[in-house]
Amino acid sequence: MFDLLVKGGTLPDGTTADIAITGDRIVATGRVEGAAREVIDATGDLVAPPFVDPHFHMDATLSYGLPRVNASGTLLEGISLWGELRDIATVDEMVARALAYCDWAASMGLLAIRSHVDTTPDHLRTVEAMLEVKRRVAPYIDLQLVAFPQDGLYRAKTGRENVLRALDRGIDVVGGIPHFERTMEDGAESMRDLCRIAAERGLRIDVHCDESDDPMSRHVETLAREVTRHGLGARAAGSHLTSMHSMDNYYVSKLLPLIAESGMTAIPNPLINITIQGRQDTYPKRRGLTRVKEMQAHGITVGWGQDCVMDPWYSLGTADMLDVAFMGLHVAQMTHPEEMARCFRMVTEDNAKIMGLEGYGLKKGDIASLVVLNAGNPTEALRLRAERLAVVSKGKVISRRSRNDARLTLARRPESVRRRHGMP
Ligand code: FE2
Repeated sequence: MFDLLVKGGTLPDGTTADIAITGDRIVATGRVEGAAREVIDATGDLVAPPFVDPHFHMDATLSYGLPRVNASGTLLEGISLWGELRDIATVDEMVARALAYCDWAASMGLLAIRSHVDTTPDHLRTVEAMLEVKRRVAPYIDLQLVAFPQDGLYRAKTGRENVLRALDRGIDVVGGIPHFERTMEDGAESMRDLCRIAAERGLRIDVHCDESDDPMSRHVETLAREVTRHGLGARAAGSHLTSMHSMDNYYVSKLLPLIAESGMTAIPNPLINITIQGRQDTYPKRRGLTRVKEMQAHGITVGWGQDCVMDPWYSLGTADMLDVAFMGLHVAQMTHPEEMARCFRMVTEDNAKIMGLEGYGLKKGDIASLVVLNAGNPTEALRLRAERLAVVSKGKVISRRSRNDARLTLARRPESVRRRHGMP
């Protein structure tokens, strides 16, 4: 007797399979015979491994309008607003907002999140709050925390000291922000310093790197060099990398092989990059998204991150990684059928690889976490930002939603189109 049987779903690769679960593991897949205590009929629906967000700010989430809205819409005004808020927000307030967000995330099938935690203030209430959230959501969401020196490792008086204090208190990943340091040289030195810290402590590193329209912001070059020097490989990630959008093409032709050689991964955040970058431009206005397809062509793992939901930098957001991938698909012009399918993998498999998640997937023996979507395949899921009909986390059904008929109508391929293209 299985605990749970998800019957007849279509997997992202197009095959149809039952998935049997006992405890927190997948124990059988394919055509499964046998009874189960609970059955989810997923016939005609897409069954995918859960969504993963490798870049978020949970200490700031759901604080939109506090202490006031970002009038200029720029990164720098956002940093300044957050600088005020983080000192007046209590631990309880931050925990409450983050837990509310985690409820949204769980209902959307988003079950693993890497969140940067601002370590700038000496009180480290942000760290205290996020460690508490991590403990409380552990039964259903894997939360990985990054020690993030928002105001600079060296630019803030106790920036470096507080990153180390946060790591000592149990924060998982080393973070940085080289383009915000006082000088290019300080930024480059911060990359050498932080990679050394990650290597010495055996930790992952994920840097807000070159989140700028300045084509001369080339800290990714130093990051890749240090990742290679210390052999950090896929344990290292460069987030944003927006300056690459504006870089000279000849320079990029040298840079991409260096990033590929290092084995590091890349995390563009399309919702935020498209709204925050290019704010000083008139026309033509740069998009600010990094070179996604070009990096993938060099074998670099690239995942879509969400970055923000209703905070000093971004006023919208719903914890829906399909929204994130949908925006990324448009801005990066990933419209070929293979590229659209890739966009779905970027918010599932590729992001799981970036975070180093173990037991992720829908194979026998994997952790029993999955999402049932009201769509026939990954591209349709993106087109519809399909409903999450059921979400299973570590063997437990944590969310169910009834099917929306309007959406179902949209999901059905019109008869005329079907016949014209000889589709099933
Ligand atoms: Fe960020």
